[in-house]
Amino acid sequence: MIYSRWAFLICFAFLFLCKPISSYPTPEELSEIPQNFLNFAKKAETFDWMVRIRREIHQNPELAYQEFETSNLIKQELENMGISCKHPVAGTGLLGFVGSGQPPFVAIRADMDALAMQEMVESEYKSKNDGKMHACGHDGHVTMLLGAARILQEHHHLLKLYIRAVIRLMERAETTEEGGGGAKKMIESGSIDNVQAIFGLHNDPLVPLGQVACRPGPIAAGSGRFQAEISGKGGHAAIPQQAIDPILAASNVIVSLQQLVSRESDPLDSQVVTVAKFQGGGAFNVIPDSVAIGGTFRAFSVKSLLYLKQRIEEVIVGQAAVQRCNATVTFNNEDMPMYPPTVNDKELHKHFQRVAVDMLGFSKVTDYNPVMGGEDFSFYQERIPGYFFILGTKDEAAQERPALLHSPYYNFNEDALPVGAALHASLAVRYLIESQTGNPTGNEHRHDEL
Ligand SMILES: *[C@@H]1O[C@H](CO)[C@@H](O)[C@H](O)[C@H]1NC(C)=O
Repeated sequence: MIYSRWAFLICFAFLFLCKPISSYPTPEELSEIPQNFLNFAKKAETFDWMVRIRREIHQNPELAYQEFETSNLIKQELENMGISCKHPVAGTGLLGFVGSGQPPFVAIRADMDALAMQEMVESEYKSKNDGKMHACGHDGHVTMLLGAARILQEHHHLLKLYIRAVIRLMERAETTEEGGGGAKKMIESGSIDNVQAIFGLHNDPLVPLGQVACRPGPIAAGSGRFQAEISGKGGHAAIPQQAIDPILAASNVIVSLQQLVSRESDPLDSQVVTVAKFQGGGAFNVIPDSVAIGGTFRAFSVKSLLYLKQRIEEVIVGQAAVQRCNATVTFNNEDMPMYPPTVNDKELHKHFQRVAVDMLGFSKVTDYNPVMGGEDFSFYQERIPGYFFILGTKDEAAQERPALLHSPYYNFNEDALPVGAALHASLAVRYLIESQTGNPTGNEHRHDEL
């Protein structure tokens, strides 16, 4: 379960770009920003507003690339606050701006797609769209970003900052399996042009409320998918000598694929190859003409990912040939690009820790073990320094084990809304101020694009 939690994370995102002007807060004022923002977000007026938005989005879930109502709602809320936005971007994406429009810019981002599943939670805001549900908490993610927009908008005078915010949405096809890579389309639409750093988060119902979990370096794997058609020659199951059996060939292919990770990869460089699809044959006495298999491969570096990709093809074709079968292998396409690994910038990690400790206290900023799931935030990190962290949303009051992400019983814990909103806003503001007062963060960057 733990490795599936990232499976369907990303679809649409906002980015806020901010820009401070003239005078800067003192170091003391700086360290108080996260707490002040949190207090603001917890005020009944702000909190109730966030809860209302979150429930409205929850009640009207839309799948990836189809978030028309969701993005309209976001646009409306931003305009109500006097925040300008660009909409649509890359389909159903959205970009909001807070501030003067002069660089430097920083971006914060959220995803907004729902999952294709039936909600089982009974509430007055239960999903009205049959077969669609916000079971990954993206309703909360969107709301926290709107909350951050409000915090930024209402504090830029106080902080003597002019903040410019940009909101964009990214798409990710959600229909069958994870994939889509909305972030890629957002980037192609220019959403992070001139942006120096980007921040994003995901909720985790197993991490206690009021805590965050994070790590520098890889936090989620890069992933790809493959499909193969293994063709032989159909015939009577009792006369195998006249047929070429693709079932046996495909079976050997699957066994051989399992040896890639166990025999060819560094045991300390975590990787996964899973064959999750096997389709062939329809009768107990007929050898079929062909078999279709498919699966996923994951790794924490682009190098390892590309090595797996190459070897998967060689093993399928070569092993099929042993049993006299032919095989064709296909990988991700335009609509379903390979995801790069999600790798956190080391300087931004220090920045995040300072901000999170100022807001939540030292003991609430915990380490996170990387997961093999994929996250399309990684596409931004290929271009600019980015930081992705985990927001604790565990419901301490609940007696039972919390429903996990993608469970039909999952329900985003609304008490986390102020924390997420205030973190987004604090990360952006502190980054801008610190990057202009001689304490730049996020300079280190890697260039190994897929
Ligand atoms: C495999 O491909 C070769 C070359 O196209 C062809 O001659 C052969 O019949 C194919 N074998 C099977 C089992 O489809």
